[in-house]
Amino acid sequence: MSRKLFTVGPVNVAADTLKSMDKPMITHRSKEYKQLHADIEEKLHKALDTDYDIFMVGGSATVLLEGAARNGIAKKSLGLTSGSFGERSIEVATTNGKTVEVVKVPWGKAVKPADIEGKVKADIEAVHWVSNESSTGVFCDSCALADEVRSQNPEALVMVDAVTSIFAMDLKLRQLKPDSLVFGTQKDLALPPGLTLAVVSPEMMAKSAKMENKGYYTDFVKLKAKNDENYALTTPPVSLMFGLDYQLDKMLKEGMPARYRRHQQMADEVRNWANEKMQGILPEKGYQSNTINVINRGDLDFDKFHTALKARGMEISNGYGEVKKTTFRVGTMGDLTVPEVRELLDNMSAILEEMQ
Ligand SMILES: Cc1ncc(COP(=O)(O)O)c(C=O)c1O
Repeated sequence: MSRKLFTVGPVNVAADTLKSMDKPMITHRSKEYKQLHADIEEKLHKALDTDYDIFMVGGSATVLLEGAARNGIAKKSLGLTSGSFGERSIEVATTNGKTVEVVKVPWGKAVKPADIEGKVKADIEAVHWVSNESSTGVFCDSCALADEVRSQNPEALVMVDAVTSIFAMDLKLRQLKPDSLVFGTQKDLALPPGLTLAVVSPEMMAKSAKMENKGYYTDFVKLKAKNDENYALTTPPVSLMFGLDYQLDKMLKEGMPARYRRHQQMADEVRNWANEKMQGILPEKGYQSNTINVINRGDLDFDKFHTALKARGMEISNGYGEVKKTTFRVGTMGDLTVPEVRELLDNMSAILEEMQ
């Protein structure tokens, strides 16, 4: 049975988007591919308002999160965490042999500049964090964190996991100047999973050029050489790239300010519902995600509630990590609209009444 997904990713893929990928295969060393790659690059630069290199690699986002750690850290980094994916980013670095100093704040709170005061010492080569913590629904102020990092150590690279915020919330890349900013296709781009992308700065490229033992698949120097010619380093998921080209057209037609507003409105609807019908949302005020709404569920029998919702043709997501049993999550990502979110919430209200 098909269901509309209000999940945290993979998210709902619209029928027209699925159709855009139903094209005869082309080889990735053909002129047609070169044109497709160039078109996507141009549209990404427009949508994200950046001149930095943007790499595309087959695999889930973790592939390029790992790539950033391998290209940007020789020995030591500082990892900031407020939930499961912050912890994951630390694990990604340590399992690649890096030493990571950790700054941890409680779940539901955002890491703030004051939390890293005095911590970005001279031997810290990079500071990494998650822009939108998918386990808690906390959206941190990456520009403020980057300013604090650079005020302490101008050499330290800023590595941002933007998997669940990019294209939905304005990350202000011209101000943030991320040395790496990583995401994948299965979240706000509203495509199937399988392609990961990274915005990469000249400073990251300079560091990568000197780095040893960074592997082949995500060697940023090799990726850039091919990307500069509008080719991929290794075989990319070409069908997904047809879809990406299509989704970027849709996005640019909507316009980024309108897109950011739509996400804000969808999230406001969910937040209002959570305040009225549940025990509000988990993230602290001022740091609330517009893509992943983490709702305090009290004594709600989530499995029963979700089974009833799925029977009505809609799916949301369970809580995650430490707050798995006390929250559930509603995704407001991609091409979803305010009326669709209202329809979801009306159904959720009706089910709550049935469960009384
Ligand atoms: C914030 C965040 N970072 C990283 C990941 C891992 O991404 P992937 O499964 O595409 O490797 C996820 C997945 O949900 C995420 O939400």
